[in-house]
Amino acid sequence: MAIIDFILFLIIANLKLFNITTLRFYNFYPRAFCNFESINNKEKLESIIFSNTISDDLAGFLNRQDYSQLGLIMDSNTQEHCYPLIKSKLPAHQTFAFTAGEINKNLDTCTQIWQWMTECGFDRKALIINLGGGVTGDMGGFCASTYKRGVRFINIPTTLLSQVDASVGGKLGIDFNGFKNHIGVFAEPIAVLISDEFLKTLPEVELRSGYAEVIKHGLIQNADYFSCLKTQDWESQDWKTLIEKSVSIKKSVVEKDPKESGLRKILNFGHTIGHAFESFYLDSDNHLLHGEAIAIGMISEAFLSNKKSGLTLDELKQITNLLLGVYGKIEIPTADVDAIVALCSQDKKNDSERINFSLLRKIGQCEYDITGSTLEIKEAIAFYQSL
Ligand SMILES: NC(=O)c1ccc[n+]([C@@H]2O[C@H](COP(=O)([O-])OP(=O)(O)OC[C@H]3O[C@@H](n4cnc5c(N)ncnc54)[C@H](O)[C@@H]3O)[C@@H](O)[C@H]2O)c1
Ligand SMILES: [Zn+2]
Repeated sequence: MAIIDFILFLIIANLKLFNITTLRFYNFYPRAFCNFESINNKEKLESIIFSNTISDDLAGFLNRQDYSQLGLIMDSNTQEHCYPLIKSKLPAHQTFAFTAGEINKNLDTCTQIWQWMTECGFDRKALIINLGGGVTGDMGGFCASTYKRGVRFINIPTTLLSQVDASVGGKLGIDFNGFKNHIGVFAEPIAVLISDEFLKTLPEVELRSGYAEVIKHGLIQNADYFSCLKTQDWESQDWKTLIEKSVSIKKSVVEKDPKESGLRKILNFGHTIGHAFESFYLDSDNHLLHGEAIAIGMISEAFLSNKKSGLTLDELKQITNLLLGVYGKIEIPTADVDAIVALCSQDKKNDSERINFSLLRKIGQCEYDITGSTLEIKEAIAFYQSL
């Protein structure tokens, strides 16, 4: 009995130590789920709440938190379109808005955010809300988790891409000297609140960009999901259902490998080549949205999958048809190809000189740590150009 008492005491002491009072079952949000996994390694806890009435659910969540001050980070578009949806029920808070766009996901904006936090007098018990797409979530979370060695933050993703991808998995960061997500940390928000209400004001091209990650989730983990996506025009998808399905796929992968030492790498399918395209055109007039770049990456890496990991020609055709049907064909000047290939080897997934890929064994199954050469990347891009 004494041992059991002692174990119970340890559990209770740990719950207090890690502020487990913030963890509860959200009975009034029937689809909410919680993650106990990170308690041992002192990371913060992540709850994902699928909300039907975002302003009430956020107010309710905040009501149960213990914080000194509340800060809200958004960009110029989410300030206009999303902030009004939550503002009236928010407790007293300070706001910071930066000019929207990937181009501002940089150290200068971080400096301004840290400056604002300092001027607001935020201490370590401050709580930050990131209201926006992946740019706001990545940068706001990075600033929060580095300010005074880390304050807690909540993500409210407002684009499809950030709802199904960027807000889950704890990767935070900014672009640096033209390299995507070059500086960053892993840290978990204490909660992610997801509502499809925000998608109503999202420009169609942004919705389509996020859809690339949804397609990726089918390709790497669930062939039925991929088949299901093929049966509908992308514009008429049931977003609520897709968001929940995609979040559950991403979450299950990330939970098995939070620090990307193995399985999590499958989420990079399409991204080794896709990121290189995104980086290359970042500052140019032809700049590509993340999903548009990843669509090119997925076609190119599906080609490599056919060459190297068993994807059949028929499957390659299915993937190419779906992606070209949604994103069209983007013209890549041959003069740009060498520089794009060179950028592939800058990707975070590489150990020294080898270029690592996550490739499909078949639709619904992905393998990681498959090495490729620059010549093979050139062939893959040439395949895309030939379509
Ligand atoms: N951390 C991760 O795991 C992860 C994963 C994928 C992508 N990302 C990052 O996410 C970023 C891309 O995310 P994104 O596509 O959400 O970009 P974004 O944050 O720039 O949002 C896209 C555009 O939509 C606007 N917007 C956002 N919500 C809106 C709404 N509800 N109504 C109207 N306009 C709205 C934004 O102001 C912006 O102009 C990239 O920086 C990428 O590197 C991170
Ligand atoms: Zn992505």
